[in-house]
Amino acid sequence: VRGEIVHFLADPAADPRALEHFADGVLIVRDGHVAECGPAAALLAKLPSGTPLADHRGRLILPGFVDTHVHYPQTDIIASHGEQLLEWLENYTFPAERRFADPAHAAEVAGFFCDELLRNGTTTAAAFATVHPASVEALFAAAQARRMRLITGKVLMDRNCPEFLRDTAETGYAESRALIERWHNRDRLLYAITPRFAPTSTPAQMALAGRLFREHPGVFLQSHLAENRAEVDWVARLHPEARSYLDVYERAGQLGMRALFAHCLWLDDTDRRRMAERGAAMSFCPTSNLFLGSGLFDLRRARALGVRVGLGTDVGGGTSLSMLQTLNEAYKVLQLGGQSLSAASGFHLATLGGAHSLYLDDRIGNFAPGKEADFVVLDPRATPLLARRSAGCTTLEERLFVLMMLGDDRVVAATHVMGVPM
Ligand code: GUN
Ligand code: FE
Repeated sequence: VRGEIVHFLADPAADPRALEHFADGVLIVRDGHVAECGPAAALLAKLPSGTPLADHRGRLILPGFVDTHVHYPQTDIIASHGEQLLEWLENYTFPAERRFADPAHAAEVAGFFCDELLRNGTTTAAAFATVHPASVEALFAAAQARRMRLITGKVLMDRNCPEFLRDTAETGYAESRALIERWHNRDRLLYAITPRFAPTSTPAQMALAGRLFREHPGVFLQSHLAENRAEVDWVARLHPEARSYLDVYERAGQLGMRALFAHCLWLDDTDRRRMAERGAAMSFCPTSNLFLGSGLFDLRRARALGVRVGLGTDVGGGTSLSMLQTLNEAYKVLQLGGQSLSAASGFHLATLGGAHSLYLDDRIGNFAPGKEADFVVLDPRATPLLARRSAGCTTLEERLFVLMMLGDDRVVAATHVMGVPM
């Protein structure tokens, strides 16, 4: 594949030479994996004659985007007006999730959702399903048919939610275990134990989720943490014994490598330090945090204390499945917090950084030889304004920044999964 290649060998915040750029580059894919990546002048001559070549000159080739937090059952309630977190869950989210008791509905939404991810350049996602095991089956099947890397799991929820969405500590444990056995590590699919958030699980369910996490090394755990102030106060009332919201998860044995917590807005440095020590990751979800009026993520503090951070859309609390739109709002959230985000840091966060937060950076996230060949082709002339603005740029950083601010699904010219255009 020939085009302008941009990817990261490391975090550009730590090493300014981490961004690798080939103005006229070639990415060689063999059997779905990266064989080599470098300047066209050097690599084209090495290819055997007759090698098929996709010519994307004038376009940018980047690693596929990694969305570290999204809810596929909320596809149909994106952009629901007027509430903050707890009312939004009651009024929009729970009724929408109820419909996933129907496997046909789950299959239809799962297919649409995966196609939308790919149309937006996202090739890997960590997604919530619903409390229904069939909702997990539907998403795994849809991702498998498209050969995507996908992490999902059955939501665990046995209190403080409508009766129609409740499991029990024991059924939640048993159903999750059966899904792990059936799906985890099948093709590119990975399982995440998914307690929705501390308020909707009894202490018994929290403890069993922690046990399941301990019993299955390599399996993920995903939840929400410290998103909204009313939610944080509620958790404090439910758990007077805990030092903090994070401590509720830690006491239940849910803090460790491959534990992934969305939002992480209302934490202190003790919490951040604990997350770093235990190898847990944060998912920064800017469009959701602004839409639900939840708060401003502190990326500087997370980085200073060495916490793994990825970027998430959090649809349907978030307002776009586009990781470019998500970067746009990440930049603005950080501006309001007196911080900034360079284009290099932004695109790193959306690719290798996300992969690192998921402990998948040995498989995806950049074009190192041997990686799975997931990539996106971006057209900087996709709209009249973008074309005009891009033409006025003099540096790569400027051009990437313009894409991060003005880009959305319209700039995604192609998405390749394991080397194959989707
Ligand atoms: N906290 C608990 N459940 C949810 C959810 O579905 N979305 C968001 N944004 N926060 C949550
Ligand atoms: Fe969420």
